Amino acid sequence: MAEATLASECDVDISDILSRYPRNQGSVIPLLQDIQDRYGYLRPEALDALEQWLGISANEIYGVATFYAQFRFTPPAEHTIHVCQGTACHVRGGAQNMAELQQLLDVKAGEMTPDGRFELGRVACLGCCALAPVVSVDGHVYARVSPKKLPAILNEYSGEQESQ
Ligand code: FES
Repeated sequence: MAEATLASECDVDISDILSRYPRNQGSVIPLLQDIQDRYGYLRPEALDALEQWLGISANEIYGVATFYAQFRFTPPAEHTIHVCQGTACHVRGGAQNMAELQQLLDVKAGEMTPDGRFELGRVACLGCCALAPVVSVDGHVYARVSPKKLPAILNEYSGEQESQ
């Protein structure tokens, strides 16, 4: 009954997610992970529903969510770029790739372009060091990337992206 009420009171229905876990505080992390998997971020409406269902305060839920870097509170960009900054990639030009992407996209690491198309991030190691330096876009790994290759990579994800 509580699930049906929650679904009708907000424009997100997470009753199926809630039904997967015991109704206690120990379920917060997997519930947050499932909510983020569905919406790409922790939608406030879904967190409201979670708060009501678990009967714990919003502060407690936000306390858990902000502790872990995996959770985000804003919608993701259309495409997520990760520049590997691990040792193997760093010594082969990872920093130059990051600098070039920051210039091409006019954002800093951790930021999203104003049109919401790209988000630029660092990653410690993508697990394919033999291909260094690597850049991934939406999980697709590009090997032995140099700054000169980056405009073409961006163009694969945007017809309007100016190549330079
Ligand atoms: S350091 Fe870049 S993939 Fe491992």
